[in-house]
This record gives sequence, structure tokens and C-alpha cells, in this order.
Amino acid sequence: MTDSTEKSSNAMWGGRFAAGPDAIMEAINASIGFDKRLYAQDIRGSRAHAAMLAAQGILTDSDAAAIREGLLTVLSEIEAGDFPFSTALEDIHMNVEARLKEIIGEPAGRLHTARSRNDQVATDFRLWVRDQCDAAGTALEALMRALLTQAEAHADWVMPGFTHLQTAQPVTFGHHMMAYVEMIARDRSRFADARKRMNESPLGAAALAGTGFPIDRQMTAEALGFDRPMANSLDAVSDRDFALEFLSASSICAVHLSRLAEELVIWSSAQFRFVAMSDKWSTGSSIMPQKRNPDAAELIRAKIGRILGATVALFTVMKGLPLAYSKDMQEDKEQVFDAADTLMLALAAMTGMISDLTVNRDKLEAAASNGFSTATDLADWLVREAGLPFREAHHVTGTLVAMAEKKGVDLPDLSLAEMQSVNPAITEDIFRVLGVHNSVASRQSYGGTAPDQVRAQIARWKQVLG
Ligand code: ARG
Repeated sequence: MTDSTEKSSNAMWGGRFAAGPDAIMEAINASIGFDKRLYAQDIRGSRAHAAMLAAQGILTDSDAAAIREGLLTVLSEIEAGDFPFSTALEDIHMNVEARLKEIIGEPAGRLHTARSRNDQVATDFRLWVRDQCDAAGTALEALMRALLTQAEAHADWVMPGFTHLQTAQPVTFGHHMMAYVEMIARDRSRFADARKRMNESPLGAAALAGTGFPIDRQMTAEALGFDRPMANSLDAVSDRDFALEFLSASSICAVHLSRLAEELVIWSSAQFRFVAMSDKWSTGSSIMPQKRNPDAAELIRAKIGRILGATVALFTVMKGLPLAYSKDMQEDKEQVFDAADTLMLALAAMTGMISDLTVNRDKLEAAASNGFSTATDLADWLVREAGLPFREAHHVTGTLVAMAEKKGVDLPDLSLAEMQSVNPAITEDIFRVLGVHNSVASRQSYGGTAPDQVRAQIARWKQVLG
């Protein structure tokens, strides 16, 4: 299996090693295949580090200048797509440094003074996840705007509200959309909170214990946009809470997206027809010409599996790890990359679907009137206007529902005489609350489904989003 004795030992730590790694060792150990995504953060961190070393007199100004220039060359090579990534060089950190050496020679070897790959990777990854929190925030805001637009256009369109997926009480479509605005807004604030907490710099923690060189961690923290340096070097190199928080926030968000996706699947079905997905977000069937499938919604509904899988994977990696760095932690990146890509794709698709959604007013209203959805309004009227205890009102209403069901009509279709035969206290006034429009209009409690309340919430969110 091994030809490792033929290989020269590693250029970065060859002093201690006579032979290179086994090929399988190289395969399990290397992370360059995925951590090359951190190249911009890695180069940014190195440039900040070199500038600080020079400011502290640890590097000469000319060496620091050569390093910083050389790093820009490496950056442009990677961006141009002609950087020779090498598995033998394990990861992005050593790939960049080795190429820097080829470009600028000896000063490249001084860049790693007062630093370790442990604080380097912690810094790079934090910067990457921080950017993702911002990107998620922007994408969530776009989804909120799409939901708000739909809510505003259909603030008073009546639809059935469900419990147990059984018709419960009428609500408005706008109210339903606004429920998701609240959920997505919480997601947005979760990413913002996580960002605030993660915004401390691990750089300068070195391998684990700090360094004897007179470094200025405040300076590198500032250069990288961190609020402050992390206060404990052991924590700085071994903490991956920021990744766990990002994944947790992503998981909760994916739960929300999957619930909305499920509703779109149900609502667009032939049995409901509450909404129609635009052509852009539907697919046909290769065999059944009548089909119009909500594939994007189904895929979003499923994506939670990947995101939650990544979350569980990283929690499992971190659990029980002794301080400080262990190579286990290299397993953090692929999970976070995949979860982040998946979330961004799902958010973009959901935003597109919601923006292009057509809502069917007649279907919604017909369904809202079905299933005695104003029975609660009738019971409430008996309590409010006829002074019945709620339990008795519930019983009277139940009798009226049974009567309507037997006749095959809805509650407002019963005559006053029929109603009075069940309870003589009922008057003509009852019809004021029985229609679905009357029902929703009466739910004026804060956060209720009355169109006025819905419009007030829409106005509030529009102001928040600016
Ligand atoms: N590729 C490594 C990672 O992603 C970088 C840190 C390596 N540190 C070490 N002590 N071997 O975790």
C-alpha cells in the first residue's frame, strides 16, 4: 500500500520527519479539497497578521511589505482559477504559504511567526461564517418582503384557518402570510445574534497557549472587523460554538421553510387549489400531461434533512473533545459549507415561489365557508349577547351545527325560527357574526385576523424593514 518512504517529508515540518505520509494518510488528512473555500479569509487574516508583526517590530517593514504584496498575487491567482492546489500541502493555510514562498522567497517563512494553523483556521472559519450570517440575513429579508407583498395584496381575503388540518375558524390569507413573516424575522434575528457573539478574534492565540512574541491582538482584531480579541487562548482555538450556532439557526430556519413548503404543496393540489405556482416554479410530468408538480416546494420541504444532518454531525464531532485543538475539528467545514449552500438555495427558491404565487380568492372563500367555520362566532354571540355560560353556548351551537349538517347547509343558511327552536334567546342580530367576513372582521384582538389588525402588522414590518 505504501510508497511513502519514497516521498520527501513535508516542507513545513520536515525537520522532524524522515519520510512522507502514506497515501491513505494523505487522503484522510487533507482538507484542501474543501477548505480552499476559505482562501479569501485566509489571505485577509495573513495580511492583517503580517501588518501587525511589522507594527510590533517583529517583522521588518520590507519583509512585511513583500509578504502582503505576495499574498495579493496568491489571491489573484486563486481568483483567476490558476492556482496549483496540492493535496500534499494538506490545507488552504499551507497551500497559500507554500505558494507565497515560491513567489517572494525567504520572507514567506517569517509569516508564521507568533501564529499557528490552530488560531489561523479558527480565524478564517469565523470570518467565513460571519459572512454567511450576513448573507442569510439579506436573504431572509428578501423573503420577508415577498411575504409582506403577498400579505398586503390579500390582507382581507378569507380562507379557512386550520387546526389538525381540519377547518377551524376563518382567517385571512394576509394573516397567514404574516405568520411566516414573524417566523422568518425570528430567524433573521437569530443569525444577527449569533453574528454578534461570534465577532471576537481568535488570532494570536497561536497553537493554544498564546505566544511569547509581543503581538498586538487588538490590532489584528480591528483589522479583521472583530469587536475584540477572544480572552482565552485555549477557548479561542477550540471553540466552534459559532459554527454550531450558525447550524442551529439554519436548522430552525429550515424547519420554517419546510412548513411553508408543505403548505404550498397542499394548497396547490387539485383538492385545494388555494394557490397556483407559476410555471417558473413548477415542473410537468413525463407521463401524465395534466400534472403540474410543485417540485421546488417539495425539495425545500426535504432540505431540512441535510441541514439538520449537518447540525447533528458537528454537535457529535464537538461533543467530548478535550481542549484545545484536535484534528476532529477539521470535520466542521464541510458540514457548515453544505448547510450554508443548502439554506441559501432554499431561501432563494422560496422567495421566488412566494413572489410569483397566484392566490385563488373564490376557492379560499368557498373553503372558508365550509365546515361550519363560524361556529365559534355563534357560540361567542350567545355568550356576549344572550348571557349564556360558554359551556352552554357551546352545546347550543353544537345542536345548530348538527341541524345544519343534516340539512346540508351552512350555519348562516338556517332560518331565525330554526335557530330559535334550539334557543329562544337568539335574535336576528346573530346573522351579523355568522358570515366568514363578519367572523374575521370581528377578531380585532391584538395579533388577531381582522384585516385592520393584519394591515397594522404589515405597516409595522414595512417600517422595520425600511
Ligand atoms: N486543516 C486544519 C483544520 O481544518 C487546520 C488546522 C490544523 N492544525 C493542526 N494542528 N494540525 O482544522
